[in-house]
Amino acid sequence: MPDLPAAAGVNPIDPAVEAALQASQEARAQELLEFARIPSISVLPEHAGSMILAAQWVAERLRRVGATDVEVCPTALHPIVYGRIHEAPGAPTALVYCHYDVQPVDPVDLWETAPFDPFVRDGRFVGRGVADDKGQLVMHLSALEAMRTAGLAPAVNLTFVFEGEEEYGSESLYEWIGANRGRLAADVAVISDTGYFEGNIPAITVGLRGIMYAQIDVVLSPVDLHSGMYGGTVENPANALARIITALKGPDGRVRIPGFYDDVVLLTAAERVGMAALPFDDEAYRAAIPVTALAGEAGWTTLERKTARPTLDVNGMWSGFQGEGAKTIIPAHAHAKISTRLVAAQDPTRIFEALRAFVAEIAPPGVTVTTTLIHGGEPSLTPTDHPATQAAARAIEAVYGAPPVYIREGGSIPVTAAFDHTLGLPVVLLGFTQPSCNAHAPNEWFLVENFERGTRVIVRFWDELASLPR
Ligand code: BES
Ligand code: MN
Ligand code: MN
Repeated sequence: MPDLPAAAGVNPIDPAVEAALQASQEARAQELLEFARIPSISVLPEHAGSMILAAQWVAERLRRVGATDVEVCPTALHPIVYGRIHEAPGAPTALVYCHYDVQPVDPVDLWETAPFDPFVRDGRFVGRGVADDKGQLVMHLSALEAMRTAGLAPAVNLTFVFEGEEEYGSESLYEWIGANRGRLAADVAVISDTGYFEGNIPAITVGLRGIMYAQIDVVLSPVDLHSGMYGGTVENPANALARIITALKGPDGRVRIPGFYDDVVLLTAAERVGMAALPFDDEAYRAAIPVTALAGEAGWTTLERKTARPTLDVNGMWSGFQGEGAKTIIPAHAHAKISTRLVAAQDPTRIFEALRAFVAEIAPPGVTVTTTLIHGGEPSLTPTDHPATQAAARAIEAVYGAPPVYIREGGSIPVTAAFDHTLGLPVVLLGFTQPSCNAHAPNEWFLVENFERGTRVIVRFWDELASLPR
């Protein structure tokens, strides 16, 4: 590990905990590699056994750091791991959340090595899930382990909820939260599933987009038809779907679904100034992807479009003949997966209803068009001046010697809004990955330096949080 200078002249964490972290660096890295070897892909049914293994792995580690009431809670799909360390009577309680599920690995041939055979090279962990989100989960566990080695307990009470369906819409968790309010009582929720700002600038995320994911199916007949015998006499479902999709978003990047923008909370002038002051370089962003040009809704900067404006995208579409050469058919059916990214205070259910109504209205006769909701998650916004957010900022400043920037992210963690609305908790999004970490893509990576420093931020955060007004 590179030398990590502490903030000017200050020891950011207890020296005994620091010594424990230094002594355990190799072991902690091995822990993450071991965890990342479990192929816990939540969306693929054939990985259900690995989901259970991963949940048990987490539960076992929780027990090892002295958590009580540790339970692998069954749900309709993947288990939720629960546990608590309540050793600070009278102190605030933090609900700590990470997810142990990961995304699928395709296209697997673009990985330099097997996705579930993770390794450390050039200061990076590489493998599926090392950044999103297993690395961050292990950081929480190892922060506690180092405190135990030093004979210490966290200065706040901690309740852990680690889920296995984040990459699948968190459906089971919503239900489970509703049924388990009693044992989730807390003063604040802490979610470690976000990252730093462009480059590697320590950041606290204060805005996440929501999501509404749907499928459109267009059906003509039970079977493909000869395009010579029937062409010109029936509606073509692929053409019809293309027209529907075209109607959803204009070339100006504006979504055309009536009512889509009704509930959008506009950025204030001050927020736009703040966002413009962040060191975001459009050209570097473009070149890193890499694409030939950036595109999107007119009237907003790239960073605004990426984090604070809603949008709509086709995620996939399929129909008819896709083999080599030619086959003269009118396809029996056509399909598209559509996602919208939403911002405060858009409601995924309302947006889905608006999409369904609009698609029904523009659907041509002669085909059956259905729109089905796959999943939805609400957007979230946190005031930067919340005392819990400020405690996290002090922890970052103590470790890095400079305060974090406050950012919004374009991605979604739907449980954020559930913690807020169902449990009434303020949420701190304290995450440690780099934006270019290839999350969801081949060769996902996580900087060892962020893993190390971030673990110290967590240790310090529990101290800072102890003064949270209750
Ligand atoms: N960790 C991400 C969310 C995220 C993305 C945070 C980018 C910060 C920046 C999370 O695991 C994720 O991928 N969420 C999904 C949610 C969906 C499956 C409901 C997403 O954003 O696509
Ligand atoms: Mn994640
Ligand atoms: Mn993810």
